[in-house]
Amino acid sequence: MKIAVVGTGYVGLVTGACFAEMGNDVICVDKDAAKVERMRAGECPIYEIGLPEMLPRNIEEGRLAFTTSLAEAAESCDIFFIAVGTNPAADGSADLTAVHAVAREIGETIQRPAIIVDKSTVPVGTGEEVEAIVREALEKRGDSIEFEVISNPEFLKEGAAVQDFMKPDRVIIGTDSEWARKVMGDLYSAFTHKTDRIIFMGRRDAEMTKYAANAMLATKISFMNEIASLSERLGVDVENVRHGIGSDPRIGYSFIYPGCGYGGSCFPKDVKALIHTAREQDFDPAILDAVEWRNAEQKKRLNEKVRARFGADLSGHHFALWGLAFKPGTDDMREAPSKVVLEHLIGSGATVTAHDPEAMDMARAELPAEWFESGRLRLVEHQYDALDKADALILVTEWKPYRQPDFDQMARRMKQKVIFDGRNQYDPERTESLGFEYTGIGRGREF
Ligand SMILES: NC(=O)c1ccc[n+]([C@@H]2O[C@H](COP(=O)([O-])OP(=O)(O)OC[C@H]3O[C@@H](n4cnc5c(N)ncnc54)[C@H](O)[C@@H]3O)[C@@H](O)[C@H]2O)c1
Repeated sequence: MKIAVVGTGYVGLVTGACFAEMGNDVICVDKDAAKVERMRAGECPIYEIGLPEMLPRNIEEGRLAFTTSLAEAAESCDIFFIAVGTNPAADGSADLTAVHAVAREIGETIQRPAIIVDKSTVPVGTGEEVEAIVREALEKRGDSIEFEVISNPEFLKEGAAVQDFMKPDRVIIGTDSEWARKVMGDLYSAFTHKTDRIIFMGRRDAEMTKYAANAMLATKISFMNEIASLSERLGVDVENVRHGIGSDPRIGYSFIYPGCGYGGSCFPKDVKALIHTAREQDFDPAILDAVEWRNAEQKKRLNEKVRARFGADLSGHHFALWGLAFKPGTDDMREAPSKVVLEHLIGSGATVTAHDPEAMDMARAELPAEWFESGRLRLVEHQYDALDKADALILVTEWKPYRQPDFDQMARRMKQKVIFDGRNQYDPERTESLGFEYTGIGRGREF
């Protein structure tokens, strides 16, 4: 069976490369011609551990190819993964324009019985829409080719995407078709030595499972951030609370780290889309509304803390910022809390020097050019160079090199020894004993 993966973002490219790595013949399709050219040359367009080595190896061995033409892929493929973006539309719903466009193209071009897999995160009912679009395109051609549209949502984490894909906790296959179940079961058996990690269910159930998973994780984060803000007011150190509750196996330690909010391409848009789905059903998603609201507030917490310490007008102040990516291990800056912090600092008159181990190219591409041209924002290659003459360091993303920094060097280079720790990376007592003024999230000693 030959596989086409349409869309080569964080999900599509990892999916294509990992299937090729297991010996499958894969052709990746993307409408971005410049990106396709780079990938054909073996260049990896995103930062993801393990991926840069996999591309040239699989291209050389003839298992992985790239094209801008879905029609070309359709000449030889029998499985089509749709892995294009589903960014939020203005009303918060998932924008399915790209998914629908790919479905139409598949219907216009398939040559043989095909399994069409929705891997993009799509609202419940999208499988039916994709099926109708493919059928309509086939009818227009006057062809009747057998096909199944199934749901196979992706659960990989950026920053560990290859590892997650290679060793999935679970693979969700949403279809009632025995044919599709057999084909997909065989395909994924290479990744799940134990086939009990493959969970079969209905297509709509699978679509909902993806949203429920992300909404649950976002809820855990927002819940903990709420407890952190309350802890600040009560003189409680939320880090002790986190240890205390995480040790309960019913709660666990995952996703209960207080911080400056969740970002990325998934949680914010998926919570919004689920809220939209609920409203369409005349259902009040009270918990999801609160999760989203709390996260928007949380992204402003560092700004409030900076304002409380330095005032509303930051003219003449200079800040160092560590961490631009929305989380460690990726160069992705979509919905990153760093953007909210930078907007506030620069909008209030400050200058900023920032560092990130991987997201600086992305920052140059995504942040307003005017910030760089006016000298309000500078990026530096070495983390300590960001600190020179800074009134404060603001830590936004918990990359490993920031975890145990050289505090002596920091003290020498900064103008004022002030740290705003948006990810509770440092021990307040230790930093204070070294002469730093320390503010974390929910550490019980500050507003
Ligand atoms: N990023 C993640 O961590 C993650 C995890 C799980 C699920 N998802 C879901 O997977 C989907 C893809 O996410 P992503 O982060 O990989 O997206 P992305 O924005 O990084 O990549 C999408 C790619 O699709 C291409 N594309 C768009 N329209 C196309 C078309 N008509 N034909 C061919 N190519 C087209 C774009 O050029 C781009 O390269 C989304 O629905 C997302 O919610 C993402």
